[in-house]
Amino acid sequence: MTSNSTAPRTDVPRMIGHRGAAAHAPENTIPGLKKAKELGARWVEFDCMLSMDEVVVLHHDDTLDRTTNGTGLVSEKSFVELRRLDAGAWFGPEFKGTAIPSFDQTIAELTSLGLGANVEIKPVTGHERRTGQVVAAQTAQLWPASLPPALLSSFSLDALEEAMKIAPQVDRAILWWNIPEDWHDHHMRLGASAAHVSAKKLSDRQAAAFRDAGVPFRVYTVNDPADAERLFALGCETIFTDYPDRFA
Ligand code: G3P
Ligand code: MG
Repeated sequence: MTSNSTAPRTDVPRMIGHRGAAAHAPENTIPGLKKAKELGARWVEFDCMLSMDEVVVLHHDDTLDRTTNGTGLVSEKSFVELRRLDAGAWFGPEFKGTAIPSFDQTIAELTSLGLGANVEIKPVTGHERRTGQVVAAQTAQLWPASLPPALLSSFSLDALEEAMKIAPQVDRAILWWNIPEDWHDHHMRLGASAAHVSAKKLSDRQAAAFRDAGVPFRVYTVNDPADAERLFALGCETIFTDYPDRFA
């Protein structure tokens, strides 16, 4: 684990598998991590939130409905209840029986695959600070020295603030959808090392502002190699993609 506090890092690859390899396997699952590796990704991104009993699990939406056979809020289910759900069948019959993974199970799998990762802190609405605390603390505690140091990110500035307080040594990036005028103030305040921005929202002018400020920027979600070339020419360091096979 390195101390970063705004110092850019040099070990992040140009391509990161988004939610694993979301076009090829169910997002935020162990088969998704394996698929990303198989398709040539060196790093993956996934989303982390808390069950009702504060177990960190991989999941994207506040609710279970889109990607599992369950319904309702993840934050209102215990880990045991979440583990009974199927998080693979919605994607394809060959993934039937895939469970929602816990964060510690995921770290063990990353370790055996030798995959680096961007851990996105994705709180269920209203649980921002606690999710930032628990995910950051577990990352600091469980991340193995054999992997590149973990990279935390979040759209929630509150979650990142808590992550900074509880585990200042774990690298942080701010995720932006709309990029506010005062983005650099937040970047400094939260000791971030990079900005993660939407391909849909990144203007040439904003890319120039990142370059001028010496802030590395990484862009989600990029599935067309021509778009990636344009973004790299603007100074983008890394793209997040659902199709690692197109960029390996
Ligand atoms: O971390 C990059 C990207 O995953 C952010 O958007 O909604 O796919 O989590 P989302
Ligand atoms: Mg994400």
